[in-house]
Formats: sequence, C-alpha cells, structure tokens
Amino acid sequence: MKFTLKKKKTNTEALGNDSAELKIPEHVAIIMDGNGRWAKKRGLPRVAGHRAGADSVRKIVESCDALGIKFLTLYAFSSENWNRPQKEVNALMDLLEKFLKDKTPEMMEDNVKLRAIGRLDKLPEHVRAELDKAISTTAENTGVTMNLALSYGGREEIVDAAKQLVRKAAAGEITADEVDNEVFSAQMYTADMPDPDLLIRTSGELRLSNFLLWQLSYAEIVITDKLWPDFRHDALVDALREYTKRDRRFGKL
Ligand code: IPE
Ligand code: IPE
Ligand code: MG
Repeated sequence: MKFTLKKKKTNTEALGNDSAELKIPEHVAIIMDGNGRWAKKRGLPRVAGHRAGADSVRKIVESCDALGIKFLTLYAFSSENWNRPQKEVNALMDLLEKFLKDKTPEMMEDNVKLRAIGRLDKLPEHVRAELDKAISTTAENTGVTMNLALSYGGREEIVDAAKQLVRKAAAGEITADEVDNEVFSAQMYTADMPDPDLLIRTSGELRLSNFLLWQLSYAEIVITDKLWPDFRHDALVDALREYTKRDRRFGKL
C-alpha cells in the first residue's frame, strides 16, 4: 500500500507529542456517512463520493495500524441501503467488488485480516465470491482486523441471534434459564470480537441508523461534521483525543 505513514512507526512517532496523552481503544466502529454530500458539494455524481470514500477506508486502516487499534468495524452498507435507487445499489456493489479485488494484495502486505458481518447471502454472487476470497486469503494475518458491515442491520442481527437460540432450545441444547448476556453475545455476528470502545459517525448525523445495537451499549460516541471522504488520519486522532477525555464509568461511581 502506498501509505504515507511508515509501517515501522510506533504510536509515539505517529502521534508526535500527543501520544503520551492518548488512550487507544481496542475496537473502533465507524458509520462512514456523507459520501453523497461530498460529491454534491463538488457537482459530481454520488458514485464519485463513494469512490473517494474507499480511499478514506484505506487510509484509516493504515492509521489504525500505526496507532495500535486492533479492530476496526466499518458500516459500509446497511440493510436499509437496499432501498436506495437500483442504480446506486449497483454502483456500490461494483465498487465493493473492485475494492476487494484491488485491495487484497495491499491487505496482505499490511497484515490486515478482513472480516464481514451482515446478511452476506443477500449480496450479489460476484461480490460474495470476491468477499469470500479476500476473507480466506487474509485469514491468517495478525494485524488490524478490518470488519466490514455489509447488508448489515442491528435488529436483523439480534433477530438472527434469537432464532439461533430458539433452534438450540428446540434441539434440547439450551434452556431459557441458561440464556444470559454472555450466551446471547456468543450468537452475534461479532461473537469473537470485543465490543467497540468508540463509535465515530461522520457527516454530523446524530443517530445510530441500525448499527451494532447490541454491541454499542457502552461505547463512547464521537460525531464529527467531516464528511467520510474527508475523514483521514488527523480526524481520527481528533476523535481519539475526544475519547481520551471521556470518563467511562459503566454505571459505577
Ligand atoms: C455513506 O454515504 C455511504 C453509504 C451509506 C453506502 P451516503 O451515501 O449515505 O452519503 P450521504 O449521507 O447521502 O451524504
Ligand atoms: C448509514 O448511513 C449506513 C452506512 C453508513 C453504511 P445512511 O446514510 O444510510 O443513514 P441514514 O439514512 O442517514 O440514517
Ligand atoms: Mg448517508
């Protein structure tokens, strides 16, 4: 990858004088919003905004690596986004396929492990095939885990988990009394990942839009007015500065 930061850079070097003060979350989740507005501001078609957004993805993964963030979950396509005009859905699917094809060698170079969550069976076959290939190619990588939320809805995920538990109960594998937070979490798409510590949403909207409803229960939330294609390393560091100031009490005193 033609990243601006050198791979060998430590957190300290990447952050300059601020590093001592920064708390680094283990898992950052991002609602990558504002691609359309970014394009509109420039008199470009919406798809140009999505293309520019793909560049931000590459840059932010690189920054996570430099900063020591282990898990990055990116909301790339929601279950509700299927309701956009077919032309835009097709363009997004084509871009996703191209992203996966083009970026897999770079993910290998950068030791990035790709994951995906969502109703992946709803993705078109050509995208699904590329996704499966990229996930298996990068499966043994040990650097940043980039988890793409695709055809993802938080409610659908909770419904899927409930279905799984009902099936287990019907098969006599579990009783109602055995179901607790831990058992429920183990049924979620993110079963083997820690919950996000920090949620960032770009482009200023103050809502979750059906993202990680279960996992975000105690995440710190940072909303920035920056549009996703403009969100790069410095913006991530700004969000981490904000996160560092937060007092995470988890209901305690
Ligand atoms: C985010 O940008 C990308 C997706 C939801 C796929 P948008 O396409 O939502 O951009 P805005 O919100 O219209 O600016
Ligand atoms: C949320 O953005 C979904 C993604 C970023 C993939 P949207 O643009 O779809 O959300 P709303 O419609 O503004 O809530
Ligand atoms: Mg949007």
